[in-house]
Amino acid sequence: MTTRHFLTLLDLTPDELNKLIHRAVELKQIRNSGEIYEPLKNQVLAMIFEKSSTRTRVSFEAGMAQFGGHALFLSSRDTQLGRGEPIEDSAKVISSMCDAVMIRTFEHETVTSFAANSKVPVINALTDDYHPCQLLADMQTFLEHRGDIKGKTVSWIGDGNNMCHSYINAARQFDFKLQIACPEGFDPDPELVATNSDRVTIFRTPEEAVQGSHLIVTDVWASMGQEEEQKEREQAFAGYQVTTELLDQADESAIFMHCLPAHRGEEVSAEMMDDPRSVVFDEAENRLHAQKALLEFLLIK
Ligand code: CP
Ligand code: NVA
Repeated sequence: MTTRHFLTLLDLTPDELNKLIHRAVELKQIRNSGEIYEPLKNQVLAMIFEKSSTRTRVSFEAGMAQFGGHALFLSSRDTQLGRGEPIEDSAKVISSMCDAVMIRTFEHETVTSFAANSKVPVINALTDDYHPCQLLADMQTFLEHRGDIKGKTVSWIGDGNNMCHSYINAARQFDFKLQIACPEGFDPDPELVATNSDRVTIFRTPEEAVQGSHLIVTDVWASMGQEEEQKEREQAFAGYQVTTELLDQADESAIFMHCLPAHRGEEVSAEMMDDPRSVVFDEAENRLHAQKALLEFLLIK
């Protein structure tokens, strides 16, 4: 059997993704019922972090422990990766000792090179270009709150960044319409937009992008690695804050998501974060359940 990886949402078929999301809902119920379910006993997940993380680290580490396995935290600061050992050599070594590898890094090419040299499944836990694990949690959260997302309208407000790119892939794989609002100069990858032009539309104001929308999503204006652009971005994104008033202009059933960490008063108002339409903490918890479903899919089949 060939090794499956999860580097973008396109690595799984729409049918596989849908089953995975439904399985995540079941795994949540299993955990909430107190049932012990340890399908990954003695298995080890290596977790390589070249950027900071709270949710990703905790959810993968807790998920492996709950599954009866083990997770190994590898910071680039303390491994030979941080001292220039080639990614290809690291992939051969780490994948010879572990059962799966999760990587959070800068260039997307790092995860593709790692996967090309790995004997075991590789999971993209965020690159500069994509954050597919977050989308599994987001899709599970929408399903739990509002049912199937197929045919619905989603609005992305803010930077055309890694999360926005994964939303474009999600629009294709889960079959929804995506209305993006971003200032000029902060558009998502034009090739990705062109490939998905049947589902994706770009607007220049948040008000236009939320019309008829069932899910409003945003993210920080300066991603990890762009810290020095913070001030310039605050100016460019003025008027793009997601507020309760903005949600009032969307469909009456609209809910709000943010992958977190959030900057209250920048991309989202404090009031919006605490509004009943905000499901951001369910979304964060679902990282655990959705990634357990992913680990099960990649490791037990
Ligand atoms: N949303 C997300 O990936 O959070 P962390 O950066 O805390 O892992
Ligand atoms: N776009 C953000 C997501 C953080 C989870 C970043 O890359 O920093």
